[in-house]
Amino acid sequence: MRLVLLGPPGSGKGTQAARLSAALGVPRISTGDILRRNVAQGTELGKKAKAFMESGKLVPDELVIAMTAERLKEPDAQAGFILDGFPRTIPQADALAKLTALDAVVNLFLEPEELVKRSAGRRVCPKCETVYHIVTNPPRKAGVCDKCGTALVTRPDDREEVVRTRIDTYERQTAPLVRYYKERRLLREVYASGLIDEIALRVQEALKA
Ligand code: AP5
Repeated sequence: MRLVLLGPPGSGKGTQAARLSAALGVPRISTGDILRRNVAQGTELGKKAKAFMESGKLVPDELVIAMTAERLKEPDAQAGFILDGFPRTIPQADALAKLTALDAVVNLFLEPEELVKRSAGRRVCPKCETVYHIVTNPPRKAGVCDKCGTALVTRPDDREEVVRTRIDTYERQTAPLVRYYKERRLLREVYASGLIDEIALRVQEALKA
């Protein structure tokens, strides 16, 4: 299965992509995670991406397209993948279409105020990248990753003013992809409000349709 998860920041793409990845046995490819790893390691790509990410803007297309094309060549992605956070612009979508054919694109949609609440309460594990929420999806022990015991952190781009810029960036640059994929008959719309398990069921149903 070759899937794309679309949706604004905080809509639950990463959470649902992790579940789908486990259920379908194909890798979740999160461009946000790959970029954050590059920033943490201080690579050339990370140095170029850091300021864009921390201000809520998109990293330039040419960098992200080259990075994703490399990732899609890896052996684990040959039988399928779940792309989380890519494409985010029409040029990225056109580039992806040249690299591979997709089976479906799931668009998670949610009201802006809910997006801000989800991002404000998010905590992430800097080691294994597991995502939590202090209210809706808390770790067993506050502030500590269930899987690897590492202290959880807040993403620098989860400050409210940056989240609002990210939502605005999404509306201007990424939302046009909803129509793009509708026209190509790949789009499946999923309302992303409710329990994480409920959304997972909605995604499954949407993929069967
Ligand atoms: P990226 O990491 O992709 O961020 P994003 O798209 O803004 O998405 P988020 O990670 O914020 O949210 P999500 O939808 O995955 O939600 P999550 O599951 O975590 O990108 C970061 C930056 O990298 C970008 O701003 C850009 O600079 C750069 N970048 C990345 N890709 C790029 C590209 N292709 N082109 C250019 N630049 C790029 O859930 C959010 C919270 O809600 C969590 O706490 C979670 O536990 C909780 N939650 C999830 N589901 C539910 C639910 N149903 N109910 C209650 N809480 C829930």
